[in-house]
Amino acid sequence: MTTLKIVSVVGARPNFMKIAPFIRAVEDWNKNDGVRIDHRLVHTGQHYDDNMSRAFFEALVIPEADINLGIGSGTHAEQVGQTMIAFEKVVRQFQPDWIVVVGDVNATCACSITAKKERVRLAHIEAGLRSGDMDMPEEINRLVTDRLSDLLFTPDRLSNDNLRREGVSEERIKFVGNIMIDTLEVQREKAKILSVAEIVSGNLKEGQDSKMNVLRGEKYSLLTLHRPSNVDDPQTFGEIVDLLTNELARDMPLLWTIHPRTEKQLKTFGLWIKVVSVDNVLALNPLGYHELLRLNMGATVVLTDSGGLQEECCVLGTPCLTLRRNTERPVTLQEHGGASILVGNDRDQIRRAYYKILQGGRTPSRPELWDGRTAPRIVEALVQKSSLG
Ligand code: UD1
Repeated sequence: MTTLKIVSVVGARPNFMKIAPFIRAVEDWNKNDGVRIDHRLVHTGQHYDDNMSRAFFEALVIPEADINLGIGSGTHAEQVGQTMIAFEKVVRQFQPDWIVVVGDVNATCACSITAKKERVRLAHIEAGLRSGDMDMPEEINRLVTDRLSDLLFTPDRLSNDNLRREGVSEERIKFVGNIMIDTLEVQREKAKILSVAEIVSGNLKEGQDSKMNVLRGEKYSLLTLHRPSNVDDPQTFGEIVDLLTNELARDMPLLWTIHPRTEKQLKTFGLWIKVVSVDNVLALNPLGYHELLRLNMGATVVLTDSGGLQEECCVLGTPCLTLRRNTERPVTLQEHGGASILVGNDRDQIRRAYYKILQGGRTPSRPELWDGRTAPRIVEALVQKSSLG
């Protein structure tokens, strides 16, 4: 019996929902006779807070990582450099046949470079996404990772086109669908039975208990923000906070689940007090997978700069304002049948789109192969490619 050695890598929160189905598909594969997969999971440690990491391993039943590189926070060069140094040792010791990376975070890019320098075959899950915006660190990570990958697993056909345009040969591209939706499909029933009020009351930032009484009706909007383009410039971020707290939150309660870097910036720019002092704005800790999914299912509108949330809104049909000028996920936009509108970070544009999108209802849409069976397709392709190669 042949054994195929695979190392897969996670580093930051959005990676965890992508690796969970892959690991399950590997386990399922190993129940059959034939090629056996010896799999090791590496966590680079880019995200390390319990609520940014451990909570997701538990909720999504991801086995503990075999190796944690403990990289933590730092500048981009520090994160990428230290990850490469630590990961090289793992690769040399385990000598895998394949290294599998997901998404577009610094861990993805760092381990891709190491994989190729160690002459190990590299597969990228979520390949071919392009925002065209080189100011985004994730765009640099995507370009590097895809350029180096031997096997590129794409979530939609637009991504295939992007890769072809860049000269990637046809046999390296494999359209498999969106692996995040595998997780959504497995977990949606568990999310559905959660209570919105309990999620909110259990996750409110300190000193806001009195705000629970604004959450009486059915309606609420849901906000997440963490991109440097929105939260790193005091003027831009100040204007967004102003619009949200003074205007949009008047219509209905605004549930804001706040990323650690966003909280840090709110405090640095003196905006924190504004957020916590407005009755209709409920500031929440970063939420677990099921909790955020439940809030998304019930939200009247989502405002976000997260790529994953755009995709979940698409499948759930939640009207979504994407607070970015571009997206690497055009398939989630209304013009492609999705639920999302790009609004950048300009106040007037956000306000106009907000009132417009409220007129429409929920229109779930499921792009091709976003069917919950992406991970088994990936595992099969890896095995097939190995016996050919
Ligand atoms: C990273 C990813 C981004 C992804 C996001 C999801 C890159 C380039 N960016 O951005 O694509 O959408 O994760 O969250 O990889 N922090 C904590 N605890 C943690 C993690 C981070 O407090 O567990 C704080 C630290 O102050 C840190 C800051 O958040 O400096 C930013 O974390 P980092 O991983 O560098 O980037 P993200 O902005 O989270």
